[in-house]
Amino acid sequence: MSKLLALVTLLAFLAGHVAAQQQGPYVCFNGWLRLPTLNPQLCRSRPRIQPRRFNPPGEGLSYGYYTNNNTYCPSAERIIKDAVTKAVTAYPGIGAGLIRLFFHDCFVRGCDASVLLTTTATGNSDVEREGPPNKDSLRGFEVIDEAKAAIEAACPGVVSCADVVAYAARDASSVLSNGRINIRMAGGRLDGRESFANETDQLPGPFSNLTQLEKSFDDQGLSSDEMVTLSGAHTIGRGRCNLFSDRFGDMDPTLAAKLRAQCTDSKNFVNQDDVTPNALDKQYYRNVLDKKVLFNSDAVLSSVAQVTENANSATIWERKFEQAMEKMGKIGVKTRATGERDVEIRRVCSRVN
Ligand code: HEM
Repeated sequence: MSKLLALVTLLAFLAGHVAAQQQGPYVCFNGWLRLPTLNPQLCRSRPRIQPRRFNPPGEGLSYGYYTNNNTYCPSAERIIKDAVTKAVTAYPGIGAGLIRLFFHDCFVRGCDASVLLTTTATGNSDVEREGPPNKDSLRGFEVIDEAKAAIEAACPGVVSCADVVAYAARDASSVLSNGRINIRMAGGRLDGRESFANETDQLPGPFSNLTQLEKSFDDQGLSSDEMVTLSGAHTIGRGRCNLFSDRFGDMDPTLAAKLRAQCTDSKNFVNQDDVTPNALDKQYYRNVLDKKVLFNSDAVLSSVAQVTENANSATIWERKFEQAMEKMGKIGVKTRATGERDVEIRRVCSRVN
């Protein structure tokens, strides 16, 4: 009898295992991971751990913040602009990195430079930088550090790392668009003191579908239209082969062949925009329509009307991009007006004071 029971249990286990295998792959961690088997830890959608829209977006921010009397550091914006211009002119990919750094900062705990920390107030070292969207992928940290060091030498203790990230994204956008994109970026953010890798699941991933993308942006107070506008940033920079190599069959065949040849290792990076790789321009939208984009999250936009509109008019998209970037810079900000307690102006951007 007990042998029979053991046999039945074994068969049930094997049947379940086979069924699970047949169902895979599972797309988990908000569209960032494609796993062969279900991992409940990475695949569950977890409840929000902090209220997203607690502060009115942008409360306490103002233009030219560092030229007013309370926070006097008139050279701050120029120092950042010089560091960014030098770095991006030498190596445009760094500009892409800086724009993405800003997005990844703002979507997790608001724009508070939590993405820069390597260790936090509670001694946590499993920080955002270690999360699946960021690890071995984010770049541009050294430009932020260089600008911050020069600012600290000029006026110690008044300019936050969160503002350095925001201004750097603005300036990188200007350089990569050859002066066509000029974002009005307000200042006055304070730096957070915590950062957790698992919170990076608030960032939408390359395997996301349209509904998931819209939800991720809505959670941050951004519309579907703004999601499509900001996705235009995928007209610069790079993407890793393992995040799109399941899509060769859905791509323009000539591009697919070229990418296959470049993807000899799944960790290799390729240009996101094969046509104008280093220009922040409307080419992304043409690429969406021509099946010349890397990720599922790009391809799913082809049904959205705004894509055709943007593909046909540079100025429409450029103005929308400027406004959406400014709005992204207001997400969950901590400022002198919002009254958080656990905030500061970091001396060194990678660690709390
Ligand atoms: C709509 C949802 C989005 C998804 C699913 C997504 C996903 C990705 C992925 C998978 C990569 C490649 C990372 C790697 O292979 O290591 C990437 C790169 C990039 N993303 Fe996004 N992204 C999204 C939105 C945005 C937004 C809103 C911005 C900025 C406004 C942005 C800017 C960039 C840039 C500039 C790069 C290239 C970075 C570099 O070359 O270092 N992305 N994105």
